[in-house]
Amino acid sequence: MKLNLLKKTAYFVAIAITVTALAACGGDKAKDKEQNTEVTTEEESSGGGKINPNVTPMVSKAPEAADADNLKDVFAERFSMGVAVNSWQLADSNTLDFITKHYTSITMENEMKPDYILDQEASASAEDGMPVLKLDAVDNIMKMAEDAGLKMRGHTLIWHSQTPGWLFRVDYDEDGDYVDRETMLARMESYIKKVLTFCNEEHPGLVYAWDVCNETMNDSQYSGHRTDSPWYITIGEDYIEKAFEFARKYADKDTKLFLNDYGITYGEKCKAIYEVATGLYEKGLLDGIGMQSHHDMENFNPDNLEAAIYKYAQLDGLEIQLTELDLHNNDNSSDSMQKQAELYKQLFDVIVKLDAEEMANVTNVTFWGLNDSTTWLTGFRKETSYPLLFDAGNNPKPCYYSVIESVKEYQ
Ligand code: GLA
Repeated sequence: MKLNLLKKTAYFVAIAITVTALAACGGDKAKDKEQNTEVTTEEESSGGGKINPNVTPMVSKAPEAADADNLKDVFAERFSMGVAVNSWQLADSNTLDFITKHYTSITMENEMKPDYILDQEASASAEDGMPVLKLDAVDNIMKMAEDAGLKMRGHTLIWHSQTPGWLFRVDYDEDGDYVDRETMLARMESYIKKVLTFCNEEHPGLVYAWDVCNETMNDSQYSGHRTDSPWYITIGEDYIEKAFEFARKYADKDTKLFLNDYGITYGEKCKAIYEVATGLYEKGLLDGIGMQSHHDMENFNPDNLEAAIYKYAQLDGLEIQLTELDLHNNDNSSDSMQKQAELYKQLFDVIVKLDAEEMANVTNVTFWGLNDSTTWLTGFRKETSYPLLFDAGNNPKPCYYSVIESVKEYQ
């Protein structure tokens, strides 16, 4: 699908005005103590192309889609629908039925992160000095996904968080000094090669996208690289490019490579991500931007989201995925649920419009959790949150119906 260039140019002018007007807005930020994960609600600006026809493979046409009683069919013509899960949910048949009813794509909430895969003892005694991986649990997860006919987003290879500190240290000893750049590059290549080769050989075609790097940029108003990441400290600023080089080298040719981050709909962080993405894209290393999309009800601004997607889509054909969507809401009154439904609709209005009008290549939306009883936000904020489309009993909330309204307008 080619973008209509005239449309795109005119649109860009309009967006540029919006971006300027919004440049002073900001997002808030909090720290996940449990997982040592920083999270910023997404509030930003910037600006789309849809040329690459290689969209996510499991999206199929469904003319009567809007009448379907599930998300995956309603949205099939636009983008695939995904959800973050844990292995116990895949192993439970009722939960798995619910997953496969609504979604075609899953992301493991934690279990494919380096923390879960790396084996310290085996690494320390490895003859070649390279990290050793334990992939049995991942293998089992991937089998369950395959049996259920699901596809997977791989999350994540290179991240400052949920990656063991010893990986960066001499002799894989957490008290040791950092290793030198060459050693760390060799460890990085080895890790990426082992994970991707395992996926290619044991479960070919299952993982259609990888978040190669997660959360590489700082949150400050000046943004720039996250310089306290052990990847940055040991390798230097080009660790991102190196990670993408290795991922491209070892990934199956159909697996899309993503740069994933939060808070990238606004200001300096949006610009910083765009700059890094442009460098990778021009070298043929990047296929998509993952916008985590952890939003707050109070701060969510659809204009910022639209401007940001439009900016990233200037890299023609670049895929845009909302990889960890939720809309934090700690009030389950009916008024608040209605408000949440309106905001979700505004969000989906933006992505459906940009995709349908070929202004951007939106290929997947993944919700970060199955329902309001399993959301990470409740633990993280130490307050109850109701951020998802389904309540604790998996019943559709008002926001479930409102997002479906968005797509109906384009059918
Ligand atoms: C970030 C990470 C996710 C997850 C969430 C919190 O957004 O990318 O993997 O850890 O934080 O659940």
